[in-house]
Amino acid sequence: MLKMEWIFFLTTLCSVLFTFCHADTYPKAQNVSWNSVNFKTLLTWDPIPVNYSYTVEYSIVGQNRERNPHCIRTMRTECDLSNSLVDLKAKYSADVLSEPKYGETSDLVEFPHTSSDWFTPYTDTVIGRPDFKIEVSKDKKKITLYVEDPPTALFKKNEPKTIRDVFGDDLQYKVTFGKSASTGKKTKISASSEILLDGKDIDPGVSYCFNVQAYIPSRSPDKQLGESSKRQCSSSDKSFIEDFGVGAIAGFILLLILTVVIVIVTVVCCRRKTKANMGKERVPLRDV
Ligand SMILES: *[C@@H]1O[C@H](CO)[C@@H](O)[C@H](O)[C@H]1NC(C)=O
Ligand SMILES: *[C@@H]1O[C@H](CO)[C@@H](O)[C@H](O)[C@H]1NC(C)=O
Repeated sequence: MLKMEWIFFLTTLCSVLFTFCHADTYPKAQNVSWNSVNFKTLLTWDPIPVNYSYTVEYSIVGQNRERNPHCIRTMRTECDLSNSLVDLKAKYSADVLSEPKYGETSDLVEFPHTSSDWFTPYTDTVIGRPDFKIEVSKDKKKITLYVEDPPTALFKKNEPKTIRDVFGDDLQYKVTFGKSASTGKKTKISASSEILLDGKDIDPGVSYCFNVQAYIPSRSPDKQLGESSKRQCSSSDKSFIEDFGVGAIAGFILLLILTVVIVIVTVVCCRRKTKANMGKERVPLRDV
């Protein structure tokens, strides 16, 4: 009996203390997540603060926490860490702390915080859609795609680095293509940003449509493919004969000759008829 009362007392004491300790606290950040495309890496969270602020701390696993000056006591709900995560292959985690507003103080010893998932720029950033140009060779047997390696949010000597600068030989491209007139699809992987399609891949002189996306085989399977480019097609500059076939051309020429003959005959007939009319002689129309 005494035992039960003790437990009740302790439980009550605990909950009173808990309420007291947390009476003046701030809401925890929610939905803390990484959003990263081409190494433009934002940490985002909810909700928008009303009478408090957020501070972001990030660290490589097992190392000291660091702060980005733009993300200390901020009223915003995102933090750009693109150029803070310097070691692209390291595993980072971040904490979002709910703190007093800038310039205000609090009695709290420890601020509420929420941790993010792990994030490794090199393996986790999404590769955005690339742009590319199509070139058809003069003999129409080869098509070359010139892919523009997308720029990243990282810099070297004030120049943005491209994804090729970052990934080097780890970067490949995957092309998905098919004849524009059909739904069939083929794929080709290219280690180079210049992708050559020849007799093994394409029929000469036919219009093909292409989608290109970055492909990084060293990544885990669900992160290997980047965003798909806009679809682009090579122009259908087939010669007339290739388009219609020799038989059709012969038929067309025959039809042309026939038309000309009919026109000539009609004209000749009409002239005769007119002459006849002028001669005021009614001559029945003769069949041709
Ligand atoms: C967290 O995300 C969920 C789903 O997107 C959303 O419904 C919820 O409102 C978010 N939380 C806050 C505090 O905004
Ligand atoms: C701060 O916001 C919380 C929750 O919105 C509210 O309960 C509290 O009264 C506010 N404090 C001040 C000083 O405005």
